Amino acid sequence: MTDRATHPEGTGRNHPVLWTSNLTKTFFLGRTIYAVKDVNIAVGPAEFAAVVGPSGCGKSTLLGLLGGLDRPVSGDVVLDGQRYSELNENGLALLRRRKIGFVFQFFNLISHLSALENVMLPMRFTGKPSRACRTKAEQLLKIVGLAERKTHLPLQMSGGEQQRVAIARALANDPALVLADEPTGNLDTRTGGEMIHLFERLNRDMGQTFVVVSHDPKLAEVADVVFRMKDGEIVESTRNARGAERRPRGDEHGR
Ligand SMILES: Nc1ncnc2c1ncn2[C@@H]1O[C@H](COP(=O)(O)OP(=O)(O)OP(=O)(O)O)[C@@H](O)[C@H]1O
Ligand SMILES: [Mg+2]
Repeated sequence: MTDRATHPEGTGRNHPVLWTSNLTKTFFLGRTIYAVKDVNIAVGPAEFAAVVGPSGCGKSTLLGLLGGLDRPVSGDVVLDGQRYSELNENGLALLRRRKIGFVFQFFNLISHLSALENVMLPMRFTGKPSRACRTKAEQLLKIVGLAERKTHLPLQMSGGEQQRVAIARALANDPALVLADEPTGNLDTRTGGEMIHLFERLNRDMGQTFVVVSHDPKLAEVADVVFRMKDGEIVESTRNARGAERRPRGDEHGR
């Protein structure tokens, strides 16, 4: 076992749950492209962070690194005291399963499974008994307003409903971190707005840390912190004064 990594500037309750140090990812296509360059960000427990910026600025690449789906060329990501650089591929897969929930633009639901079965799936992978998975999945579908749709297959639901199933699935294993890449990108404006409010409500009520990439300007309004990217770099970090309303995950149990 290695020591828990601590953020150089974090103190007490304000200790970041997710942070990066000089995170860099390049691609080589005839020349070196810095998709993510020297990124240093810190997100506190139960904070809602938005990543914004023009197409191609590196948002998805950054999210992939934060989610441990991709490895940087240099620098590191730390989640809950765990440095990704100290994990092998199995360790990273385990961390993803236990601590991270993903939401994608195209929902990525399994087409032959019902809403309920889709939400149960990540729990089944952890070996949780089937009955407990079902109960938890039913609760989550209720939270996202889909109790009446649990037997529907993805194609028997609207885009907004499918995305709510995907959000319920992302929350299935009580992740410390929820990452969403353009979760409203495939929805009409109104449904997209509702989705952002759902994220805001879940973040407030369930106390998970959210990092959401979106072109939707509403996202920047609801976020605690907005990271603006350009050419792979964070060119601006804006913090909104709403953090005090937030209750960190598990705080009621004195964690
Ligand atoms: N596999 C790859 N090989 C080569 N270059 C890549 C690869 N993936 C991304 N890039 C480049 O890295 C840069 C960042 O891409 P990324 O997908 O992170 O942007 P983005 O901000 O998510 O854009 P969008 O808003 O369009 O989704 C872009 O210049 C892109 O062309
Ligand atoms: Mg992208």
